[in-house]
Amino acid sequence: MNTLRDIEQFWDANPCGETLVGKDQEWATFFQRYDEFRYRTEGHILGELDRLNLAGKNVLEIGIGQAADSAQIIHRGGRWHGLDLTAEAVFRAKTRFELFRLPYQAIKQGSATAIPYPDKTFDLVYSHGVLHHIPPIRQVSQEIRRVLKPGGKLVIMMYHKHSLNYLVSINIVRRLLMIGLFGLAKIGARPLITNPLLVGHLQNAREFGLWTYLQNPLFMMRNTDGPGNPYSKVYEPHDIAADFSEFRIENTRVHFLNERHLPVLKVFPQSARTYLASKLGWHLWATLG
Ligand SMILES: C[S@@+](CC[C@H](N)C(=O)[O-])C[C@H]1O[C@@H](n2cnc3c(N)ncnc32)[C@H](O)[C@@H]1O
Repeated sequence: MNTLRDIEQFWDANPCGETLVGKDQEWATFFQRYDEFRYRTEGHILGELDRLNLAGKNVLEIGIGQAADSAQIIHRGGRWHGLDLTAEAVFRAKTRFELFRLPYQAIKQGSATAIPYPDKTFDLVYSHGVLHHIPPIRQVSQEIRRVLKPGGKLVIMMYHKHSLNYLVSINIVRRLLMIGLFGLAKIGARPLITNPLLVGHLQNAREFGLWTYLQNPLFMMRNTDGPGNPYSKVYEPHDIAADFSEFRIENTRVHFLNERHLPVLKVFPQSARTYLASKLGWHLWATLG
């Protein structure tokens, strides 16, 4: 079992989504490019945030990454408090808020397994793409219940098991590619394989043995956020109900086809892709109360 320390080290060294735009520019330009990319490819996030009627609400965001959604919460009038396991995410959020003069309440480095706030503090806890990376998830659910006011809501995005990304891209396409890559390395092509992601997967296959590496959940975990990712879990609504049994699910919605990993989807018209995303997308959003 991976410890929180392993998870902290991974996210400190791999700040969420950074490779999608590259960090070879000034912070202000980086944040602008990051946001442009994020909301061009995941525009549904803005619609989901609009639904939350954030004005005047005491919000805790758990797992802040590049603080893009944090800025959106502040723009919508939320009284934003942030919590992240890593010093890097806390530094980036502070840098962003200072550069763009965004008002916030507090930001703390710490874990969702021991939330550093008193009972009944928040109207809303928001956590996008984070809680599926935390093994002691029952502890997290209890902690979130504790810091929410009575009637407060929890809004989460978890990786979706019943998705094209998991069922087709990870379970079939990537497994076949992994077998091919391993075969190429075996016949002497290893020096030609220089892409860091491929090198990482080859190292994993060598360390665990190819057959063991191809088994889930190990293979899934190493294919959601890079070959070094220590932990992920994929969810259906009934898994959310079990892991967050202090809550009742009020609604769920599915978004995001992750076409980067399955480029063949681009041949479908936009209307078909939007429909597919709402059924077989990679991001399962849930509101719990
Ligand atoms: C995949 S990123 C998601 C960031 C952001 N919410 C987004 O959607 O881009 C995961 C973030 O959660 C943080 N994180 C991981 N485990 C955590 C924990 N136990 N408590 C608080 N934050 C955690 C990581 O440091 C990282 O910033």
